[in-house]
Amino acid sequence: MEQATKNIFFLGKGGVGKSTASALTALHLAKTGHKTLLVSMDPAHNQSDIFEKKFSEKAVKVNENLSVKETNIDLWVKKYLSDIQFQVKHTYSYLTAFNLENYLDIIQYSPGIEEYALLMAYKSIRQKAKNTDYIIFDMPPTALTLKFLTLPRISLLWLDKLMDLRNKIIEKKKIISKVKFGSKEIERDKIRNKLNHQIDEYHQINTVFEDHTLTSLNLVLNTDKLSFSESQLIVDKLARFNIKIRNVFLNKLVSGFDTDKIQKEYADCGFQQFPLSNTPLLGIPALTSYLKQLPSFIKI
Ligand SMILES: Nc1ncnc2c1ncn2[C@@H]1O[C@H](COP(=O)(O)OP(=O)(O)OP(=O)(O)O)[C@@H](O)[C@H]1O
Ligand SMILES: [Mg+2]
Repeated sequence: MEQATKNIFFLGKGGVGKSTASALTALHLAKTGHKTLLVSMDPAHNQSDIFEKKFSEKAVKVNENLSVKETNIDLWVKKYLSDIQFQVKHTYSYLTAFNLENYLDIIQYSPGIEEYALLMAYKSIRQKAKNTDYIIFDMPPTALTLKFLTLPRISLLWLDKLMDLRNKIIEKKKIISKVKFGSKEIERDKIRNKLNHQIDEYHQINTVFEDHTLTSLNLVLNTDKLSFSESQLIVDKLARFNIKIRNVFLNKLVSGFDTDKIQKEYADCGFQQFPLSNTPLLGIPALTSYLKQLPSFIKI
């Protein structure tokens, strides 16, 4: 049976080596025969520097099994907004009296838009990557990554409440108009249909996020105190949503450092060590030679 595409997310504090760990993992998987797509989800893209090659929204093949692309978040924000505009116009036609364009101009700067846009980009990437074994996501800074990962669950909570509200409105309409609303009438309710459609979509995303065989969250950290405490915050926040870190990548490790304490802290996770390199990890030859010197690479 064909293997389903697996999401590999790399997250962690700024500068710990998310992009480097993503690139090394992508090269390792490609070298071991897996069709791999590496995607930078960070607006401050690093993969072009790491691979010394220009990347964009369109995936570029860097070797037989590996392609790389950069998500243009601004473009996805625009797509997201024009989608909203389309839906509002079609679902709530009575609102056309308002000048919708003016509102959308303001909405694009409102908080929360970026994570919705990122989720939209994610959906499209996953849909297109049908013959891919692994999609490696090099994630943006912690705050946006956490919002992105928890968005499907939060949206489902919201949609549930909205559906309750809509059902109550339908119920009231029934009483006021004294019209007998058959089940057909309810099925035809545009707003209920839209809500149902969105509930289905977020359920699908959430199911993939929560399935360990389809999604693995990888936390990159260094041995310093700051990186360690931000990592704890990430783990705690995700735990509240029942989302678990699968593997810990301890990066920039200097020889002689005792990893026992960190390993005990993350006893439930897989553990990968990446030693501090004394030569820059830039370009495929440098990354490949670094990978060759690693004693082992965890099963991701
Ligand atoms: N194992 C390593 N040995 C030596 N240098 C490393 C190692 N890992 C990462 N670096 C260097 O550390 C710097 C930060 O790494 P990287 O860009 O991968 O981190 P990041 O977490 O993606 O950062 P940002 O939060 O800015 O996206 C880079 O200069 C990178 O080359
Ligand atoms: Mg980075």
